[in-house]
Amino acid sequence: MRFGHFDDSAREYVIERPDTPLPWFNYLGTDGYFGLISNTAGGYSFYKDARLRRISRYRYNNVPFDFGGRYIYVRDNDSGEFWSPSWQPVRIPVDDYSCRHGMGYTIIGSARSGIRTDTRYFVPPGENLEIWDLTVVNQRQTTAGLSLFGAIEFALWDAQDDMTNFQRNFNTGEVEVEGSVIYHKTEYRERRDHFAFFACSEATAGFDTQREAFLGPYRGWDDPAAVGSGATTDSIAHGWSPIGAHQVKLSLQPGETKRVVFLLGYAENPTEEKFDPAGSTVINKRRVTPVIDEYSSVDRVDAAFSALAQEWDRLLGLFQVKTPDVAANRMINIWNAYQNMVTFNLSRSASFYESGVGRGLGFRDSNQDLLGFVHMAPARARQRVLDLAATQLADGGAFHQYQPLTKRGNDTVGSNFNDDPLWLVLAVVAYVRETGDESILDEPVVYENAPGTEQPLLDHLVRSLEFTLGRLGPNGLPLIGRADWNDCLNLNCFSDEPGESFQTTTSKDGKTAESVMIAGLFCAAAADMVDLARHIGRLDLAGVYAAARTAMLETIEGPGWDGEWFVRAYDDFGHKVGSAECDEGKIFIESQGWSILGGAGLSNGMAQKALDSVARHLATDHGIVVNQPAFTSYHLELGEITTYPPGYKENASIFCHSNPWIMVAETKVGNGDRAFDYYRRICPAVREEISEVHRAEPYVYAQTIAGRDAPTHGEAKNSWLTGTAAWNYVAITQAILGIRPGFDGLEIQPVLPTSWAGYTATRVFRGVTYEISVSRSTPGTSNSLTVAGRAVESTTIPMPGPGVERVTVAVAL
Ligand code: GLC
Ligand code: GLC
Repeated sequence: MRFGHFDDSAREYVIERPDTPLPWFNYLGTDGYFGLISNTAGGYSFYKDARLRRISRYRYNNVPFDFGGRYIYVRDNDSGEFWSPSWQPVRIPVDDYSCRHGMGYTIIGSARSGIRTDTRYFVPPGENLEIWDLTVVNQRQTTAGLSLFGAIEFALWDAQDDMTNFQRNFNTGEVEVEGSVIYHKTEYRERRDHFAFFACSEATAGFDTQREAFLGPYRGWDDPAAVGSGATTDSIAHGWSPIGAHQVKLSLQPGETKRVVFLLGYAENPTEEKFDPAGSTVINKRRVTPVIDEYSSVDRVDAAFSALAQEWDRLLGLFQVKTPDVAANRMINIWNAYQNMVTFNLSRSASFYESGVGRGLGFRDSNQDLLGFVHMAPARARQRVLDLAATQLADGGAFHQYQPLTKRGNDTVGSNFNDDPLWLVLAVVAYVRETGDESILDEPVVYENAPGTEQPLLDHLVRSLEFTLGRLGPNGLPLIGRADWNDCLNLNCFSDEPGESFQTTTSKDGKTAESVMIAGLFCAAAADMVDLARHIGRLDLAGVYAAARTAMLETIEGPGWDGEWFVRAYDDFGHKVGSAECDEGKIFIESQGWSILGGAGLSNGMAQKALDSVARHLATDHGIVVNQPAFTSYHLELGEITTYPPGYKENASIFCHSNPWIMVAETKVGNGDRAFDYYRRICPAVREEISEVHRAEPYVYAQTIAGRDAPTHGEAKNSWLTGTAAWNYVAITQAILGIRPGFDGLEIQPVLPTSWAGYTATRVFRGVTYEISVSRSTPGTSNSLTVAGRAVESTTIPMPGPGVERVTVAVAL
């Protein structure tokens, strides 16, 4: 069952009814100002940091689940009837409802009693404000007397404090009102130099800034007293809960259309120019007024919206494909690329499941996110990699997280997730392959943010690899530390204290528990390093890491092999985890994927055997689960993974992030059919048809899908911010379609499903547009390239000479 449809030419998902199983949401903003918006206009906004600069308030885990947002009310002044065009919060039925989520914007439209409204929500590129661009049409035969109300509840900046520190916060709220602008200025008199504003393009009939005055005592957003009575009260908030609410009165002739613009924004003043007049407590509005005036013009609003669309034309135009699979096309050309960008911007900080007050940016997460968007924003990728490397520890280890505002490593979570530093190698090498910019390797970068410790970035990569080699366990496999990619496989934790963090508690010396997954990841990173070192003429490094990798591959194929698949780990007692010997958790996905991605078992049949075991034991119709059998009871020696009920999260759910590793591994053994079959099992656009089971958005990946042991098998959770986005993009574009950046040019080596006759693609690589057409005449995977009409010996397209902007490539399989 579907709740909407894809409109590919508009690059939109069109939701056709408001009561989706979960809030189906979208993001606004790409630079500093961000918002989350659901299909019923729920959500909130913040400036740069979802915790420290929260602009509007949102109550997580609310009832209904998604409640509070950018609410507009329409009141028929003749009948007194009112409703919400976004259905929520009033929830009176509306006709012709649609929510169009697009690239950085959302349009919610509906009609009731002959009054049609469409509201376009977006953040103009480069501005710190969001626009609610409301178009109202009187479709009646008679004149309509209407009141429109636009309302927002302000957050008192620090979202964590805002939810907890009421003894103070009910006293501090302050606002100013000038014309059609409400300014939220709590704490501006003292140490803050920023304020928020909520403006309306029209002369208003009234306003409210105190929540209780607008809603009325004992009433909620679903039935505001001021909307019911048709009159705001011009209340001024002194403490309690400052809001912004505007009332606009309209008289519309039959067929008449009117546009009303609401602006919610954020502004800063230099400390010495905060007040006007100086010495007063009145906000200096000289900087912000011109911006508000500018965007109160609908022409300017339209121009900003076009600019946003053009930017997405450019970004998405960098890589477009036409394959025989509609769902794959949708994801590659539009939604997967879009999700990659959003995930890069926000890491794991703010979604409807990540409250914005928790995590900073993950070290491993950000490095992996980069793989999905480096071709769209290479300059930002470069900066991100350098920021991440600057938090690396001198011993090669890494802080697990860092704070984007300060760009410093996060001490509270600390380090010793022993996979972390290896992802930096993958990210840097991906950046150099994409851009050809080797200068980044010489860039001086500090360790632990400490001035004076600068070393070339290349040295950071060497230390990342050495970190693993310096921490090998009894079997010669890498020690796991607090955890590897699977945050919940905590082999040194042994926690029996309720509430203790599994990620930051370590009870063991950590000298025994080992990870086969890290071993595979090391081999992949070492292979990247060897290629890089050869490319830049550092044969010394190439030699060292080629040898280290060979030795590690032997270890994986030795103590890392269980007979039918790769072992997952060794625990603190030296017992196998993920082995036929175990009662539960006999086989895990991560070590199958990474051992093969690192190159293990490719020449001796182990890889094929392991993948067959994955197909037999882990693959379900809804994707590949983390482990089988699921853990049914708590194991002190395994940690958080065994705290989740069977089938959820790290305990045997389909943790989507890890599925593409198997897809890539399948292409390494030449099995395009299986790779693409796995791709489709978790592909949101394919799962659209079973939205009543999947429940999350059909246009973006979610972190998990409940596994076969769960009573809700097939149900997705934690949509949007997940490494799944980048990795699926890598799997489909680089492994299955086989278009991948190489140091010396674009490589093309497709491993397609046998039913495909081919595909075409346009890929911009280092400023050159490649028009690629692939056609298959044999079932195999070997291919030959014809570039600009001439046969090429290898699978790499040589970089064209200067001045060449377009290259045609024919690939025959
Ligand atoms: C979460 C974390 C990620 C981790 C994964 C598996 O997505 O953000 O770092 O690898 O869970 O535990
Ligand atoms: C929990 C989650 C895991 C996440 C970790 C860190 O353990 O299960 O997915 O990575 O928290 O936030």
